[in-house]
Amino acid sequence: VPPRPPAAHEVLRKKIVDRSAVLGFVGIGYVGLPVGLAFAAAGFRVRAYDIDTRRVDATNAQTLPFAHDEPGLSDLLRTVSESGRFVASTDATILSGCDVFFLAVDTPIHPDRQLDRVRFLEGIARICNYVKTNTMVIVESTVPPGTIDEMVIPAITDRTGLRAGLDFLVLHCPERLRPGRLLHNLRTLGRLVGGDSDETRSLGTLLYGAIVPASLTGVDYRTAEVVKTAENAARDVQIALANQLAIVCDVVGVDFTAVRDAVNGIWKNEPLVLEPGAGVGGHCLPKDPWLLVSQLPDDASRALVVGARALNDHMPHHVVLVAVSMLNEVSISPHEATIAILGVSYKADSDDTRNSPALTIATLLEGRGATVRLHDPEVPGYDGELAETLRDADLAILTNAHDAYSMQTIQTLQSVMRNAGLLDTRRALDREEAHRAGYRYRAIGVGALVE
Ligand SMILES: NC(=O)c1ccc[n+]([C@@H]2O[C@H](COP(=O)([O-])OP(=O)(O)OC[C@H]3O[C@@H](n4cnc5c(N)ncnc54)[C@H](O)[C@@H]3O)[C@@H](O)[C@H]2O)c1
Repeated sequence: VPPRPPAAHEVLRKKIVDRSAVLGFVGIGYVGLPVGLAFAAAGFRVRAYDIDTRRVDATNAQTLPFAHDEPGLSDLLRTVSESGRFVASTDATILSGCDVFFLAVDTPIHPDRQLDRVRFLEGIARICNYVKTNTMVIVESTVPPGTIDEMVIPAITDRTGLRAGLDFLVLHCPERLRPGRLLHNLRTLGRLVGGDSDETRSLGTLLYGAIVPASLTGVDYRTAEVVKTAENAARDVQIALANQLAIVCDVVGVDFTAVRDAVNGIWKNEPLVLEPGAGVGGHCLPKDPWLLVSQLPDDASRALVVGARALNDHMPHHVVLVAVSMLNEVSISPHEATIAILGVSYKADSDDTRNSPALTIATLLEGRGATVRLHDPEVPGYDGELAETLRDADLAILTNAHDAYSMQTIQTLQSVMRNAGLLDTRRALDREEAHRAGYRYRAIGVGALVE
């Protein structure tokens, strides 16, 4: 006879099946909001707590707290708000009586590259007031390996006196969303359900099965922690390789596209080289590789992550080098130049400016005395007329391939610039068309430093 699972599993299983479980969210950002709304749409009552008044007010007014559109999310917010199944508050007492607590707070790093625990621990402290017998805590935030066992569970047991795995249950279900496709990613990407026993993982699978039609894979906490941070480390390392090759191409005078196509052509199903760019931004990629290696003892064992991070952080400097050489061609020194940066968010069609390479490029150019103007149709405060940003400028640096920066639009604006230089860090525009439109055009990775 198999051992009976503890009572918490039975109580929660019943409440999940009949949708009487009340779900409490801490953090309604890019992760917490779509997940909370999806659960509300699946029939659960969802209570969301966030310290950001602007986000809470917007959400309760049925407006997404993001500047850009997230396909399907506004409609979902309206529907579940009107049904009364989703309510947000800056008052943590809204979490009182919840059965399942989701931690979806941001997890930045310190300058020493270790997790900045402050907000994460505050989030845990908040839910501890409401974690009772037969409840469950789910960590959705990305955390370094060992965090659930060594930080989350001790913090809750110390404060509540309850036993993890018996009185209350813990899961780590990291997110794989990307801004711009939040709902789509949520529904189509498989995910990990990290738990300490088959019973707990099966409960997690039952719960997430309500919102995720894709595969759900049960693993232990540490595997979930390593897989999530490894995914972003892998991407960061691959981008670093593409950036490294782009710099090589710029210095030795060959075309990155020819190099990439030839390398990727060897094993067509396993492309080895991605696209280069102006650097790596966003909340996740610049810090998750550090979280992955945060327990390693020495530089040698961290070397790949350290190198990839250094390379990707160097890309804004490389862009500035090319920008200055383009100004030199028309005999303008940086302190005389007006430079327009097109794209402030870190990726196309997003309003997320966290760690955006464009902002670093702007700071570096200003440090050299240039007048810098920033433009981004997706980011409030930077969404003015593109023609005004470019007026009398000596150089435009395309840092983001937003739809609004198509060749069709760009070619009509050449005449408003003083010196029509165009530096394409995304390699998004066609060189011949740019030349025909009257631009001095350079892209990263096409011999930009030897032309
Ligand atoms: N953004 C993404 O695409 C993405 C993808 C996968 C995983 N993640 C991970 O998910 C987590 C959340 O990321 P995000 O992009 O949603 O961050 P975010 O900054 O958009 O949202 C976090 C929210 O948590 C709130 N918050 C912070 N501390 C709090 C506290 N103590 N109490 C209550 N509210 C608090 C903030 O006010 C904010 O609204 C991070 O660990 C991140 O690494 C993010």
